[in-house]
Order: sequence, then structure tokens, then C-alpha cells
Amino acid sequence: MLSSLGMSSAKPEAEGFSNVDSSQDQRHFVDYLDLVRSRKGVREGKELSFALLQLKPGDLALDVGCGTGDDVILLAKIVGEKGRAIGIDSSEVMISEAKKRAAKSSNTLNAEFHLGSVYQLDFPDETFNGVIADRVFLHLEEPRKALGEIIRVAKKDGKGRIVTHDPDWDSLVIDSEFKEVTRKIVKTASDWLKNGTAGRRMYGMFKEAGLADVTVNGGAVIFTDYEPSFQHLELEKASKAAVAKGVISEQEQERWVADLQRKGEQGRFLASFTTFRVAGTRM
Ligand SMILES: C[S@@+](CC[C@H](N)C(=O)[O-])C[C@H]1O[C@@H](n2cnc3c(N)ncnc32)[C@H](O)[C@@H]1O
Repeated sequence: MLSSLGMSSAKPEAEGFSNVDSSQDQRHFVDYLDLVRSRKGVREGKELSFALLQLKPGDLALDVGCGTGDDVILLAKIVGEKGRAIGIDSSEVMISEAKKRAAKSSNTLNAEFHLGSVYQLDFPDETFNGVIADRVFLHLEEPRKALGEIIRVAKKDGKGRIVTHDPDWDSLVIDSEFKEVTRKIVKTASDWLKNGTAGRRMYGMFKEAGLADVTVNGGAVIFTDYEPSFQHLELEKASKAAVAKGVISEQEQERWVADLQRKGEQGRFLASFTTFRVAGTRM
């Protein structure tokens, strides 16, 4: 997730997933999405999100902030050849990757990808039966504006479903011998994101926006496999960001990472954060 911070080098780039194209290491973001997608819990979560969209063959689906487009390809299969799945993303790098992947995949004639911003969706009012935004709101400076635009393009009268899924970065816990250093690193990481606490905020925003049948689920994702989790959570880079910010010293950072590594070697590494999946219907 901290890849969302774009920290692919010791010097973090503040824009991260909020502006992938401005990064000097754009490939990092593509690779990061693949790493996250390869994790078992993530795939299961995506299936839950798709089920909450309640799509039927022939429906129109929109994936906002579609990244590498793999979800759009899956949604295209759900809505079938009489339906259509569209992915939009503000990053040219992502849209070009998504088009490449769709070209290689079979049965994707009904999948399309467009460069665009969630703040100004280039579709008429009441177009889609389902709109999904997976791990996008945590990168948005104006989440209410984005949700309003998503609601605008969803069909009315109970025919348009909206699903969002976001972690809450403040909920990251890590079993470390250095509790205060851990707190400072987690806070640095969360504050770096445009909307690091999106997870806890979306349920209220759905209600406030007047959506019906609003549900929230999710829960703690527990990480115990050290190597992939260390990369997934980008803990070394997060801790270096805390050094760069001046909230911990280099020595504290080194000791913190060494402690986690040791725990990994002993098979007792543990970290966890909470994610929230919110669904609602436009009336
Ligand atoms: C963490 S990635 C998630 C990608 C994909 N949904 C997935 O689950 O793999 C966030 C995506 O949102 C896109 N994004 C960020 N800000 C956006 C905006 N204002 N409008 C549209 N897409 C945006 C990023 O370019 C990135 O591809």
C-alpha cells in the first residue's frame, strides 16, 4: 500500500498513486499492483466486491481507477458479450498497460479503457448498472466530489450499485519491539496519502450522499509471511520516509527493520490493517 506513496527509492515521491505518470519509476506502480493482486486475501476480497455489484449479463459496469485493468477483464466476463465493462484511470501508464493486457486476454471485446479522472467522468447521467472503485479513494483529495460524480453516472431507481474498497492506513499494526517508532512510521505513511483514512470514512459518505441499502464489511487483513508482506506494506520505504521527515533517526530505522527481519527469520512476523468494503444503491 505504501507503494501508493510512490516510495520506490529512498527519496519518496509524495504524489504516488495520485499521479503515477509524474513518477520517475512508473513501472514500479504496475509491478506493485501485480504483487498486491497475487495475494490470496486480495483476490477473495475482489470477488466479494464483484458480488456486491450484483451485475447481470447485459449490464454496463465501470471500474474507476482501474489500474492495470485486470478487474475490468473479469467484469467483462460477468456482464458477457451483450454487456460492457469500462475502465477509466487518470494514468496513461495504467491505461496503456490495461489495453495491452486486454489485447492478450481472450473474450475481451466488451472491455474498454479510457484515460480520465473520477472528478469528471465522461459518461452521461444514469449510465451504469455497477460502478466500482477499488483502493482509489485513499488517493483522492476530494472524495465527496468523486463520490458525487460516481453516483451521477450510476443508474437511478435501484438499478445502479456502487462499491468502494479501501484500507484505513491508520489501522496498520506491526508487532515490533519498538512501539513508539512503529507509531511514528505508521503516522508518516498514513499522512502521506491524500486520504489515508478513507477506509473508515466511506460508509458515512455513502449514507450522507443518500444511497440506499448501504452495507459495510471487511475486517483485519493479517500478514504473517514476512518477505511478501514487507514488500506489500513497503515497510522499509515507509520507515525511510519517517527518517526523511525527521520523526525517527537513521539508527532507529535500522534497528526497527532489523527487528522485523529477525522476527521474519524466526517465523513470527505479524502485521495487520483493516480494510472496508462499502456498497450502496442509487435510488
Ligand atoms: C492503488 S491503484 C488501484 C488500481 C486497481 N483499482 C486495483 O485494484 O488494482 C489506484 C488507481 O487509481 C488511479 N487514480 C488515482 N487518482 C485518480 C483519479 N483522480 N481519477 C482516476 N483514477 C485515479 C491511479 O492511477 C491508480 O491506477
